[in-house]
Amino acid sequence: MTHTDPKPLGGEQSSTPGTSLPAANSPASDERLTQTPEGAVEQKGPGSPGQVVAIQGAPVVPEGAMTVQRAPGSEDGQEGNPGALPVIAVRDLTKVYILGGKTRVPALQGVSLEVYPGEFVAIMGPSGSGKSTFMNLVGCLDRPTQGEYWLAGNLVSRLSTDKLASVRNRLVGFVFQGFNLLGRATALRNVALPMVYAGLSRRERERRARIVLQLVGLGDRVHHKPAELSGGQQQRVAIARALINGPALLLADEPTGNLDSHTSVEIMGVLQALNEQGLTIVLVTHDPNIAQYARRRVTFLDGRVVRDEPVPNPRSALEEWNALMNPPAIEGEGAMKEVSS
Ligand SMILES: Nc1ncnc2c1ncn2[C@@H]1O[C@H](COP(=O)(O)OP(=O)(O)OP(=O)(O)O)[C@@H](O)[C@H]1O
Ligand SMILES: [Mg+2]
Repeated sequence: MTHTDPKPLGGEQSSTPGTSLPAANSPASDERLTQTPEGAVEQKGPGSPGQVVAIQGAPVVPEGAMTVQRAPGSEDGQEGNPGALPVIAVRDLTKVYILGGKTRVPALQGVSLEVYPGEFVAIMGPSGSGKSTFMNLVGCLDRPTQGEYWLAGNLVSRLSTDKLASVRNRLVGFVFQGFNLLGRATALRNVALPMVYAGLSRRERERRARIVLQLVGLGDRVHHKPAELSGGQQQRVAIARALINGPALLLADEPTGNLDSHTSVEIMGVLQALNEQGLTIVLVTHDPNIAQYARRRVTFLDGRVVRDEPVPNPRSALEEWNALMNPPAIEGEGAMKEVSS
């Protein structure tokens, strides 16, 4: 088998295919990491660490890799995605936390929602409205008090904790505000870590981690530890780690919350590029500007969904990043110079 590494961003344009996103942990995903599929990693923008990934290629969406039962209503699909099986289908999901053995905190009060393959959804809402609780449930980190949750066609809401962990490892990638990287480990080791249970040799794990780090534009930073990376680069490492097992779903809870506005554009560019390749993304943000990079906006209030709407004319992080890096010449600038000299 041959393998062509993805080209680093901002460098030469690839005439040979690069790699595409790994799909869900399956024989197919292994192939994707070791062969040279149709998709290519295209580089745009400057070849600096502050680069934005643009990935082209066929959508890579796991097709119900471990389908057991079909989610209700999935036959209809969504506009633009007819017949697709929802990646997320929740029905009347509730979550009540019990504090001190008796105080009930109703964090989710009957949420029903579907998210289809290739969607990019921004979840908004005031503090305490249940956004993180929802993300923890759809990310299989926690179980609902009531209601159903179908993940990529699997009814997961009643799985045991062990089975839930196994589904989570296979189908979900997480990105958090605080990056959550191991401080003493290199980027390579951080990204390779989730593969530790996959029964692969260390060499193979690191080979794959290197590919995904190249995919997010960090091929030249693999031996750096988090403290030796910028905030944006650390978040790229976290994104690479989230992608390493080929998830069906990427969940990001305030991924730009610790980043300045330039770096936020950079990270949104990475997420948009991954989404364009077919990755389903659900992102929580407080920032309405960040939500504009998504294609759908869902608003929570008091544990309920109060709005669910498409984002009209989503912003393009890649275009904005390129404009930031190559500002257009100011009209009349030459004349000004002439006048002042
Ligand atoms: N582990 C917990 N135990 C008890 N109550 C909790 C727990 N986690 C969250 N809550 C409560 O559940 C409600 C929803 O919290 P959640 O963290 O989902 O809100 P959020 O929308 O993510 O807020 P923020 O924007 O501040 O992150 C809040 O009232 C919160 O206090
Ligand atoms: Mg939260």
